[in-house]
Amino acid sequence: MLSKKLQEAINEQINKEFFSEFLYLSMAAYCQQNDLDGVANYYLVQAQEEHFHAMKFFNFVIDKGGKVTLKSIDAPKTNFSSIIDTFEETQKHEQLVTKSINDLMALATKEDDYAVVSFLKWFIDEQVEEEATVTKLLGKLNIVDGKGEGLLMLDRELAARVFTPPPAA
Ligand code: FEO
Repeated sequence: MLSKKLQEAINEQINKEFFSEFLYLSMAAYCQQNDLDGVANYYLVQAQEEHFHAMKFFNFVIDKGGKVTLKSIDAPKTNFSSIIDTFEETQKHEQLVTKSINDLMALATKEDDYAVVSFLKWFIDEQVEEEATVTKLLGKLNIVDGKGEGLLMLDRELAARVFTPPPAA
């Protein structure tokens, strides 16, 4: 059984993961409207990952005999000033998600719920990767000043990204 407090916190996290999916879909739309189909593909795959994260929490709550409570999802930002702006927003957002996962881990640890602690370890590692990826891409974008031939090269590179669910999923 999950404590009421942990169940509520995990349900909040489900909402945050679905919001992340919406945010990245919004960024994909912005990229497509600006002819950056490769970067749009990056964000579409990112949105699929976020859906996967939400469902991983969703299934965990069910497996623990808890109750999933879905809430309305806030509208994501739809206006971005540049491609660098979208990646800066992505970096900020992922930092917030990391904090949220860390807070969940702190709560699970405080409550001695080792099943939740064990489950959350995957997300702790995932956030390291998520932040590292966006930071690297933002760095590359800054090198090419977010435009010109450098941006087109990055766009081609990101067109190859595909969503691969982890094997244990
Ligand atoms: Fe679900 Fe991008 O963290």
